[in-house]
Amino acid sequence: MLSIELRPESPADFRAVEELTRNAFWNHHAPGCDEHYLAHILRESSNFVPELDYVAVHDGKVVGSIMYTRAWIVLDRGGERGALCFGPLAVEPAFQGQGVGGALIERTKVLAQELGYGAILIFGDPAYYSRFGFVPAEQYGVGTSWGVYIISLQACELQPGALEDCEGYFEESRDFQIDPEKSAAFDKGFSYKEKVEGLPSQERFQWIIQQTKPRSPCS
Ligand SMILES: CC(C)(COP(=O)(O)OP(=O)(O)OC[C@H]1O[C@@H](n2cnc3c(N)ncnc32)[C@H](O)[C@@H]1OP(=O)(O)O)[C@@H](O)C(=O)NCCC(=O)NCCS
Repeated sequence: MLSIELRPESPADFRAVEELTRNAFWNHHAPGCDEHYLAHILRESSNFVPELDYVAVHDGKVVGSIMYTRAWIVLDRGGERGALCFGPLAVEPAFQGQGVGGALIERTKVLAQELGYGAILIFGDPAYYSRFGFVPAEQYGVGTSWGVYIISLQACELQPGALEDCEGYFEESRDFQIDPEKSAAFDKGFSYKEKVEGLPSQERFQWIIQQTKPRSPCS
């Protein structure tokens, strides 16, 4: 595994984090990406969790980043259960596959646990997140706000029983509803990159988001 230091992000890292996030996500799920803009605006969000905003540094260079926001499960029986969500999680392409992403998840999971958070829910590839204790949120009766169970909605309890009796739907911070025009304007401040369609990672993403089944709220 690569030798890395994990530490909180500082303002001096902001641009490097946005650059690496753009490099990691560019054309990954779809042509281009918005995640560097998301990283840029999340830090200002009232739902941002600065204690869990971490970077991975190798040889003085920021090569990975993880950010967390507060999220909720809106319970079928009424009320809400608080949770955490992470993303963007990004590793500079040249440093991927060397344990950086895993180290960022593992470290911040422990910190989140120590801070008393109950659970993390994310949208992501189950093939990756199952390595870190994530299971389909369906196992806890948690679906999406649009009324389905989807395999990309992954959940991980940080405190035993935190996701018991919480049938409902997942709600992430409103910041994730990106304004495409603002994102495109922000991207103009970065070097030109070509948008490419039809990549295997995009096909995988399309397949994942189609893996759904209807969910009826329990009354
Ligand atoms: C996903 C990401 C953060 C993982 O970080 P990383 O440092 O490359 O991951 P690690 O080194 O900890 O783990 C690498 C392993 O995970 C696997 N892996 C990485 N992404 C995966 C995915 N989407 N699905 C399945 N496996 C994946 C690799 O094949 C590798 O497997 P191996 O150990 O059997 O060789 C990084 O690859 C990345 O930035 N990707 C682009 C952006 C992205 O998809 N972010 C997550 C959005 S949900």
